[in-house]
Amino acid sequence: MARTVLVVYHSMGGNTAAAAEIVAEGIRSVAGADAVVKSAAEAGPSDLLACDGVCFGSPDYFSYMAGMLKDFFDRTFYPTQGQVDDKPCAIFITHGGGGSASTSVEKICRSFRFKQVGQTLLVRGKPDDAARTKLRDLGALLAKTVL
Ligand SMILES: Cc1cc2nc3c(=O)[nH]c(=O)nc-3n(C[C@H](O)[C@H](O)[C@H](O)COP(=O)(O)O)c2cc1C
Repeated sequence: MARTVLVVYHSMGGNTAAAAEIVAEGIRSVAGADAVVKSAAEAGPSDLLACDGVCFGSPDYFSYMAGMLKDFFDRTFYPTQGQVDDKPCAIFITHGGGGSASTSVEKICRSFRFKQVGQTLLVRGKPDDAARTKLRDLGALLAKTVL
C-alpha cells in the first residue's frame, strides 16, 4: 500500500495553495508515495494520525503563520499527543519579502515532536520556475523519507 503524505496549508490569495499542489506533485513523483492535500480548515486530528509524513504550508501574515494553520495546530495537539513523535515533516512559507513566519511553524512542529526533513523553504509570492523546482524537490525528499 502506498505511503501517504499529508499536505496541510492555508491560502487566502492562492500563492500557498499553488505551492501546496506543487509539493504534492513532488510527493507523487516518488514511486510508492501518495499525497493528500487539505486546507488547514478541513484537516483534523485523524488526518494527522493516518499519514506517514506531513508537510505544512503557510503564508507569512504579519510575520506569523496564518491563523487558520495555528487553529489546526491548536485543534490537533492534544488529540495526537504522543502518537506523532518523530513523524517526518516539512515546512514551506510563502511571503512578500519577509518570511519570518517560518520560526512560528518550526517551533510548533518541535512541540508536536515531528522530525523536520530538509530546511524550511521560503517562497516569495507566486512560485516561479526556480521555486517550483525547490517545492517539488521538498515533496520528493519528504516522500522518500517515509518509504
Ligand atoms: C494580512 C497579510 C499580512 C501579511 N504580512 C506579511 C508579512 O508580515 N511579511 C511578509 O513577508 N509578507 C506578508 N504578507 C504577504 C503574504 O505573505 C504573501 O503575499 C503570501 O504569498 C500570501 O499567500 P496566499 O496567497 O497563499 O494568501 C502579508 C499578506 C497579508 C494578506
